[in-house]
Amino acid sequence: MSLTVTNLTKTFTTHGGEVHALHDVSFSVKTGEFASIIGKSGSGKSTLLSMLGALDIPTSGQIEVDDVDIAKLSAHNQTAYRSKKIGFVFQHYNLIPNLSALENVMLALEFGGAPSKDRKDRAAELLAEVGLEPDQQKRKPSRLSGGQQQRVSIARALANHPAVILADEPTGNLDSETGKKIFDLLHNLSRSENTTIIAVTHDLDIAGKTDRTFKLQDGKIVKA
Ligand SMILES: Nc1ncnc2c1ncn2[C@@H]1O[C@H](COP(=O)(O)OP(=O)(O)O)[C@@H](O)[C@H]1O
Ligand SMILES: [Mg+2]
Repeated sequence: MSLTVTNLTKTFTTHGGEVHALHDVSFSVKTGEFASIIGKSGSGKSTLLSMLGALDIPTSGQIEVDDVDIAKLSAHNQTAYRSKKIGFVFQHYNLIPNLSALENVMLALEFGGAPSKDRKDRAAELLAEVGLEPDQQKRKPSRLSGGQQQRVSIARALANHPAVILADEPTGNLDSETGKKIFDLLHNLSRSENTTIIAVTHDLDIAGKTDRTFKLQDGKIVKA
């Protein structure tokens, strides 16, 4: 899915005054592109991903996704956009601890409306695609390594054929070798599934391997 952000601004009003988390941000990403976002802590990266995923609304500006401005959707349609079009991947994986890897992915399939008889096979297929062996698929997150847990969360993000994957520091808790493997996996997915991927990272080596890199500084894009 193509994405065009125009003059996007997000201002938070706090007790200490206004925080300009994003200021006049414009860029676009084509279908199937793998873009990275870099920038220091507090530069607005997570705020930008939240806007792209319709988890929060901009103060002003447009976010056009396949020519629809998602900031102008009703709350109901924003929820539908999130569940049908977006896969989220977070730094802390956010898996459900009491469920196995397989069950975590099956739950996402259930939320997406997949028929119950298909869920187990489809979940196993997705987990195999991200490199989890059958015996690992039966384990709860606490019995998997960080890299394996992130693979499960990527399988979960893929469950409902999202048009875009938004990943907020997906390798932030991983050693650099494992982090590179996770980015390779995302890269392969962007190729094989034609999924647009936007990933925040601190690792410049990793960012350098993506199709595009945007750098945020004090809420503005300084390099595109
Ligand atoms: N909900 C919020 N309320 C107030 N300020 C916020 C909120 N979310 C983020 N901010 C502020 O916006 C700025 C950008 O934050 P963030 O997008 O989390 O940066 P990054 O992900 O690059 O570290 C920071 O100054 C942060 O304190
Ligand atoms: Mg952040």
